[in-house]
Amino acid sequence: MALNGKIAVVTGAAMGIGRAMTEILLKNDAKVALLDVNETAGKTFKEALDKQYGQERTLFLTCNVESEEQIKAAFQKIVETFGGIDILCNNAGILNETLWEKIVSINLVGVIRGTYLALEHMSKLSGGRGGVIINTASMAGLGPLPSCPVYTSTKHGVIGFTRAMAIASSLSGYGIRFNALCPGFVNTELFTSIPNKLGQFSHLAEATQQLVEKLGTLTVSELAEHYLELVTDETKNGEALLVLPTGKKYATFPTFIE
Ligand SMILES: NC(=O)c1ccc[n+]([C@@H]2O[C@H](COP(=O)([O-])OP(=O)(O)OC[C@H]3O[C@@H](n4cnc5c(N)ncnc54)[C@H](O)[C@@H]3O)[C@@H](O)[C@H]2O)c1
Repeated sequence: MALNGKIAVVTGAAMGIGRAMTEILLKNDAKVALLDVNETAGKTFKEALDKQYGQERTLFLTCNVESEEQIKAAFQKIVETFGGIDILCNNAGILNETLWEKIVSINLVGVIRGTYLALEHMSKLSGGRGGVIINTASMAGLGPLPSCPVYTSTKHGVIGFTRAMAIASSLSGYGIRFNALCPGFVNTELFTSIPNKLGQFSHLAEATQQLVEKLGTLTVSELAEHYLELVTDETKNGEALLVLPTGKKYATFPTFIE
C-alpha cells in the first residue's frame, strides 16, 4: 500500500513513539491527524511540522482516548478536513501500576473505543475505503513483565483484540487489516519513568533494569522503520510484530481456531 495521499490518524502523537510514527508517515507522503491529550506538546510539534511539510499536511486535535465523545468529534473533524481515514494507529498508552484502572482505560479500552469509532468511517460496510489499523501493544503483550502486571494484561488484551478483529474484518468484508506493534524497550518518557511507576511492585525495579540491560533499548526512529512494514505490507493482517534492538520477529501462536 503506497502512502501517497493516504490519511492517517495517530493517537498519542505528541511524544515518543507516536511522534516517530507521525514523522515517518509524513516522510512517505501521507497526511496525518495528530491526536493527543497533551495540547501544549501537540501544538508545538504541529508548528515544527508545518515548517517542514506545510500546514495542510497535518491536523492537531486535543483528544483523550478515554472519551468516546472526544474521539467521535476528532474523527468527524478529520473526515471533514481531509476527506476520510485510511490508517489508524491506536498508540496512546501509559505505564503506571499505581493507577491500574486508568491503564486499562487508556491502553485497552481506548484501543477498542478508537477502533469501533473508526470502523464507522473506514469500513467498506459503512461507506469507507477500508485501510489498516495498527495497535501499539508491547513485548509485554507476548510475555509477562513481572513488575507491571496490569500493563502486561492490557498489552495481551491489545494483541488478542487485534488478532480477533483481523479475522472478523476478513469474514465480514470491512476491507481493513489489523496488526499489533510489539516493541521492546524504547527510549521515551514512558520508558525512563518506569522505576517511579511500579507502585506495589517497586521492589522489582532492579529485575526490570536487568532486563533492560539484557535486551537493550530502541530509538523511536529505529522502531518507526519496522512499524512502516505493518502499515504498507498488504500481506500483513492479524500479525503481532516483536521489535527488539537485535531485530524483528513476527510472533507465532497456537492455532486452534481457523
Ligand atoms: N517506550 C517503551 O519502552 C514502550 C515499549 C512498548 C510499548 N510501548 C507503548 O507505546 C505507546 C507509546 O508510548 P511511548 O513510550 O511513546 O510513551 P510517551 O509517554 O513518550 O508518549 C505517549 C503519548 O501518549 C499521550 N497520551 C497519554 N494518555 C493519553 C490519552 N488518554 N489520550 C490521548 N493521548 C494520551 C501522551 O500525552 C504522550 O504524548 C504506548 O502504548 C506504550 O505502552 C512503549
